[in-house]
Amino acid sequence: MSRHASCFSSSPSLKHPFVTGNLKIFEINVPRKQIKMEPETNPHQRIGFIGAGNMAFGIAKGIITGGNVLPANIKVSAPSNRNFGRFQELGISVTNSNVELVCGSDIVFVAVKPHLVRNVLNEISVLITDRHIIVSVAAGITLETLEELLPENASIIRLMPNLPCIVQEGALLFSRGSCAKPSDGELLRSLLHHCGLVEEGPEAWIDIHTGLSGSGVAFVYLFSEALAEGAIKMGMPSSLAHTIASQTVLGAGRLLRDSGKHPAQLRSEVCTPGGTTIYGLHTLEQGGVRAATMSAVESATERARRLGQMSAARK
Ligand SMILES: NC(=O)c1ccc[n+]([C@@H]2O[C@H](COP(=O)([O-])OP(=O)(O)OC[C@H]3O[C@@H](n4cnc5c(N)ncnc54)[C@H](OP(=O)(O)O)[C@@H]3O)[C@@H](O)[C@H]2O)c1
Repeated sequence: MSRHASCFSSSPSLKHPFVTGNLKIFEINVPRKQIKMEPETNPHQRIGFIGAGNMAFGIAKGIITGGNVLPANIKVSAPSNRNFGRFQELGISVTNSNVELVCGSDIVFVAVKPHLVRNVLNEISVLITDRHIIVSVAAGITLETLEELLPENASIIRLMPNLPCIVQEGALLFSRGSCAKPSDGELLRSLLHHCGLVEEGPEAWIDIHTGLSGSGVAFVYLFSEALAEGAIKMGMPSSLAHTIASQTVLGAGRLLRDSGKHPAQLRSEVCTPGGTTIYGLHTLEQGGVRAATMSAVESATERARRLGQMSAARK
C-alpha cells in the first residue's frame, strides 16, 4: 500500500433504510459530483506529451479547454507525423524528437503503448531534472518500474484515465510516486480539471480503476448495444434503437452523477409496482447481469494486475 493511502475520501456512509415493495434497501449517501472549481495554474506551464495517440489527445484537449495552459505551451512528440493533424488544429506544436520535447517541458506525459515505455524512459532519463514532473498513463506500468527507469528523486505520477477524456467526461485516478509532492498532485489535478472526474488514490486502486472505469466503458457499450438489440428485436429500426439506447445510457449516467443518489434509489423510483420496469429488472436478475458485471470488473482488475506483474518481470 502506498504511503499516500491515508489522504483519500471516505467510503459512502449508510443512512436510514427505505422500503420498496418487500425489499428493504439502505439509502447510501454517495458523494455528490465534485463541484468544478477553477483552480489557479500557470498558463505558461510547459506541457509535453510523448505519444500522439487518443489518450494524449483527450488529455491535451481537456487541458486546453480548461484554459489553464496556452496551446502554444503544449508540445507533442511521436516518431511519425500521421497523428499530428488534430493536435496542430488545436494550436499545439509537434516534434519527432522526444529529447526536444523533454528539454522544453516542465510536465511530461508519457502516453505511448505500455511495451514502449521502457525504451522511451531510457531515452529521456538523462534529461530529467528537478523541474520535471513525469506523468505516465501506460496501463500496467507500476510506480516501482517507473522509478527504476528514471533518476532517483524524480517526481513521478501514475495516472489512469479512460477514453471519455476525449469528450471531457473521463474518470481519472492518479497515484504519486515516492518523490512526488502533494503540490505536484494538486498541480496535476488542476491541469486535468476539464478532462472529467480526477481523484487521487493509493496505487493498489489503479488496477481496480482500470477494471471499473477503463474497461467499464466497454461494459457500458455492450449494455447499450444489447438494449438497442432488444428494441430491434421488437421491431424498431436499428439506427433509431442505437441512438435512443446511447441517449438512455447518457441520461441515466448524468442523472446518477448529478443527483448524488444511490443507483438502487433511482432504480426504485422508476419501478411502479406491477409495472414494466420491475418485470424487465426481474428478467435481468434471472439472467445474472449483476453477478456477471461484478465478475467482469473482478476479472479485468485481475488481468490488469497480471499485466503489471509481467511488465515488472521483464526488467
Ligand atoms: N486508449 C485508452 O482507452 C487508454 C486508457 C487508459 C490508459 N491508456 C494508456 O495510454 C497509452 C497510450 O494509449 P493510446 O490509446 O493513446 O495509444 P495510441 O493511440 O496507439 O498512440 C500511441 C502513440 O505513441 C506514439 N509512439 C510510438 N512509439 C513512440 C516513441 N518511441 N516515442 C514517442 N511516441 C511514440 C505513436 O506514434 P505514431 O503516431 O507515430 O504512431 C502514437 O502517436 C497506453 O500506454 C495505454 O495503456 C489508454
